[in-house]
Amino acid sequence: MNTTHVFVADTSALVGDAYRRAYDAVSDARRAAVDRLHSPVAQRASLGAELLLWRASNVLGLPKASLVRDAHGKPHPEGKPFGFNLSHSGSVAVCAVSDTEVGCDVEHPRDALLKVTERVCGNAEKAFLTSLPPHERLDAALRFWTLKESAVKACGKGLSVGMERFCFSLTNNGATLVTAPVDASWQFREFRLPSGARIAVCAGTTIEDLHIITL
Ligand SMILES: CC(C)(COP(=O)(O)OP(=O)(O)OC[C@H]1O[C@@H](n2cnc3c(N)ncnc32)[C@H](O)[C@@H]1OP(=O)(O)O)[C@@H](O)C(=O)NCCC(=O)NCCS
Repeated sequence: MNTTHVFVADTSALVGDAYRRAYDAVSDARRAAVDRLHSPVAQRASLGAELLLWRASNVLGLPKASLVRDAHGKPHPEGKPFGFNLSHSGSVAVCAVSDTEVGCDVEHPRDALLKVTERVCGNAEKAFLTSLPPHERLDAALRFWTLKESAVKACGKGLSVGMERFCFSLTNNGATLVTAPVDASWQFREFRLPSGARIAVCAGTTIEDLHIITL
């Protein structure tokens, strides 16, 4: 593969027969997780995220391996023939697939993020947010949040590696990792969806353009 591929899908079409077909196509563990969810939006997103992984594997010619979760809850294909990571927010599902460990995050803008970001941003990041005109702050906060979460998810150690330990510098052309708790030669790539949602991906190889998939 040598590069990282990012797939995105809108899961809101998974209703009726499409929902039943998706339910039949995913793993037993996913079906059990979906059965435990109460919100139809969350059920469709969870189902759609795994379905997206199988569609991505198909596109990339990868084997449909069984999935196992490690001690931190991060799923891997059995035997780790490749790396992947899933994220879902609202009806959007994202799947990043790579030769290396990979993390991805998708989030929609919401005002509460400005407050939450305060907690996980370093001094330079906070100063950058304050320097922006108010109408640009939420999108920048969303960028910091998704970038930090993608890095945490690439590490795969859950919340024990805090988001505040990854700090970024943002420009209109992309993000640069300024400080990190681990020595890794990571690359980051960001995508903005028409809805304003932001996706960030962290991986050890070049990250390709987004593949948009219809489930
Ligand atoms: C993983 C985590 C960052 C998820 O963040 P989130 O913004 O709520 O959710 P996202 O939609 O972005 O990502 C969820 C997906 O990440 C994946 N995931 C789960 N655990 C993960 C981990 N430790 N690292 C990376 N990815 C993980 C899963 O595929 C999950 O989706 P699924 O359950 O539908 O398969 C967060 O919940 C977390 O850190 N959990 C671990 C908690 C922990 O430390 N537990 C200790 C266990 S010993």
